[in-house]
Amino acid sequence: MSGPRPPSLPVDGSALEPRALDAAVHAALTAFAEAGDFEGLKAARLAHLDKGPVAQARREIGALAAEAKAEAGKRVGEAMDAVRAAYLGRVEALEAERDARILIEEGVDVTVPTGRRPLGARHPVELTMQRLTDVFVAMGWEVAEGPEVESEWMNFDALNIGKDHPARQMQDTFFVDPPDGGLVLRTHTSPVQIRSMLTRTPPIYVVAPGKVFRTDDLDATHTPVFHQIEALAIDTGLTMAHLRGAIDHFVRAMFGDVKTRVRASYFPFTEPSMETDFQCFVCRGADDSCRMCGGSGWIELGGSGMVNRKLLIATGIDPDIYSGFAFGFGIERALQLRNGVGDMRDIVEGDVRFSGQFGMAV
Ligand code: DAH
Repeated sequence: MSGPRPPSLPVDGSALEPRALDAAVHAALTAFAEAGDFEGLKAARLAHLDKGPVAQARREIGALAAEAKAEAGKRVGEAMDAVRAAYLGRVEALEAERDARILIEEGVDVTVPTGRRPLGARHPVELTMQRLTDVFVAMGWEVAEGPEVESEWMNFDALNIGKDHPARQMQDTFFVDPPDGGLVLRTHTSPVQIRSMLTRTPPIYVVAPGKVFRTDDLDATHTPVFHQIEALAIDTGLTMAHLRGAIDHFVRAMFGDVKTRVRASYFPFTEPSMETDFQCFVCRGADDSCRMCGGSGWIELGGSGMVNRKLLIATGIDPDIYSGFAFGFGIERALQLRNGVGDMRDIVEGDVRFSGQFGMAV
């Protein structure tokens, strides 16, 4: 506003005329009121506030005689104030309009159906392991862990699995390079028994869920990577009755209120050893053609037994004071049975549409 005077606006005092000034103010107010958006208002401001007759009038004050300056200055000042106030008022009004429009345009209608973004689902193997682990934790057992890359000694020797045991042969075990380096991918969770006995003092009550590896090809019933849950109890006076009680508890948590039975078996790390079956939860033995149990009424669960004295001695636990029991069951198998998963590959592939069926719990 204080720039050089434009040559097209000679200082002739006409802009200072009261009528001209009133008309200029009126024109400015009308232009502001008619400005429908910020762009229009900006143009109106340039024409009526930054430049234009009112600004011109202010410049003309300088040319007036000293005694006329005060009166003219007052009038022009009032005119300027009125124009400025009208401008600011319009800015506010346009801003309010814009905000109101944005509120409506950008409002969210929570009832409008959206493109659905499904939640991920936790894998049923993980859910099953956690549920079973919780069963033991609720009884005061602790969770123990061991490495997936395990020493051959922990995985076999310490468990009394001899050098010529079939489980050791190349076709079952993944050996970590170099093959004679003494490291394997653990073939079962039983080495966690050894680790627990070496690092804890009795009474020991631990449960060890985890991943295990065997050189099987992936097909409908096999997978080279699967999961087991191992349980180990070492205390004074533990007998097979305690073992059976623990297994019953485990089976009930997984399959409901069904009976269990045990059969003599052999594992190098338990003596005596047992194989556990549980009553078919579909037919409970009442259907000769039951597809779940093949009509036998029983379903095989896994191995168990009283901890072999040799293991106690090897880990520094006095077998004349302490005894223990252990069992190890496959998670995938339990899941296949319980949820009727026909094909192991469904469990392995990790498709969320499969996992989602087991609940979306996170
Ligand atoms: N580790 C055995 C396996 O993978 C299962 C097993 C059998 C675990 C007997 C045990 C047990 O704790 O007592 O086949």
